[in-house]
Amino acid sequence: MLNVLFVCLGNICRSPLAEGIFKKLVKEAGLESFIVSDSAGTSRWHIDEPPDTRSIQIAEKNGIQLEHLGRQINRTDMNRFDYILAMDNENFEEILRLQHPDPFQKAKVMRMRDFDNQQSGADIPDPYYGGQNGFQIVYDLLEESLSNFLHTIIKEHKLK
Ligand code: 4NP
Repeated sequence: MLNVLFVCLGNICRSPLAEGIFKKLVKEAGLESFIVSDSAGTSRWHIDEPPDTRSIQIAEKNGIQLEHLGRQINRTDMNRFDYILAMDNENFEEILRLQHPDPFQKAKVMRMRDFDNQQSGADIPDPYYGGQNGFQIVYDLLEESLSNFLHTIIKEHKLK
């Protein structure tokens, strides 16, 4: 079983959307019993809150139901997950601060757009203070990177 965690700042816009899209891709690939995913925020601001209505809307438009409630990433997650994917470089730096000093740490910490062939390593832009169009941009970027990420781990772990 592979465990994947998506992380943004608030855990109400980008990362729950990433989780929803990824679950759909995993289901379509018939890999639900091999890959599980979750999301979290680096902040405590939206603990136990449902996703932002704009993320819910863009997900619904694409046949995806978001069921996540906000939570904050913690040190335990660094050994619970195989992959932790940060939405932007600020999230990435925050996650690295939780790394274990001991040589054994399960999670490989990466950035979502390390899997974007057009602009590797760029940010998934924070859409919180913008309009609905920003969520469409986020959706399209996520779909592209998540699909590449899924194919990478399928190959790496010989899942097919
Ligand atoms: P997210 O977006 O990190 O993609 O969930 C944000 C959500 C909330 C806030 C900022 C970004 N906030 O300032 O409350």
